[in-house]
Amino acid sequence: MGHHSLAAAGFRPGCRMAERSPALSEPPRERAADATVDKSGARVRGMFAEIAPRYDLVNRMLSGGIDVWWRHVTVSRAPPPAAGAILDVCTGTGDLALAYAAKSGPHVRVVASDFCRPMLDRGIEKSQRSGARVEWIEADAMRLPFPDATFDLVTVAFGLRNIADTATGLAEMARVCRPGGRLAILEFALPRNRLIRTGYLWYFRNVLPRLGNAVARNGSDAYTYLNRSVEEFPTGEALATLVRAAGFTQVDSLPLTGGIAALTIATRQA
Ligand SMILES: C[S@@+](CC[C@H](N)C(=O)[O-])C[C@H]1O[C@@H](n2cnc3c(N)ncnc32)[C@H](O)[C@@H]1O
Repeated sequence: MGHHSLAAAGFRPGCRMAERSPALSEPPRERAADATVDKSGARVRGMFAEIAPRYDLVNRMLSGGIDVWWRHVTVSRAPPPAAGAILDVCTGTGDLALAYAAKSGPHVRVVASDFCRPMLDRGIEKSQRSGARVEWIEADAMRLPFPDATFDLVTVAFGLRNIADTATGLAEMARVCRPGGRLAILEFALPRNRLIRTGYLWYFRNVLPRLGNAVARNGSDAYTYLNRSVEEFPTGEALATLVRAAGFTQVDSLPLTGGIAALTIATRQA
């Protein structure tokens, strides 16, 4: 991990900062009360550690490369500030953080955080190869080690759904986002059109888990988890309600590729 850049930024990877509000120092609930998929931190971290070496390959394969386009849309709809700081939460192998770094000027800091070290290591390798300026931080999204109102833009791609407690994750994103700053959530969704939805669900339940598990060669059934976690995660107005409850306004949702993904953009209340 690029400790020098982190030290320069005044961040301590994996550490909590004293500025955190007392409520957030409570141990987070490891599992949402209404969730049927096990999203405990240990399970999710272990699963991503196992698939990390092949994560990018499987992403490209299962999406036919469309995921690259979705990140491009995210960067153009929620562009980097001219100067300031961006945080990509649940950055994984860092594709969204790297896309932001490529489009950001010299006065913008791009920070990428995740609690799964093997995923971050892939991102670090990629940034070393490309020379991208990204600060990598090992941290739990439910206990972000940053002071309040640090970032102009907070982003999360295919990550919010994996956080054990969605409301706690969103509250942390709201806390570290400055008033008037923006939040961009890129997440899977399900097509609205009944016919397309039926066909897509068949692929999503039967083909995708087998293909993904075979190529990523994992024992934790990560791509069955992918299907189940997407089917039970709130989308559209239900997600917008959670985002508003966390302290954001002007919540807009843009369906992508027939509704199999959605980009939700919101503004932090002043
Ligand atoms: C599906 S991957 C998405 C990675 C990346 N954002 C992308 O677009 O490809 C989800 C990531 O969320 C991370 N994650 C899940 N829960 C987390 C938490 N509570 N704190 C930090 N990272 C978390 C996992 O480690 C994993 O790297």
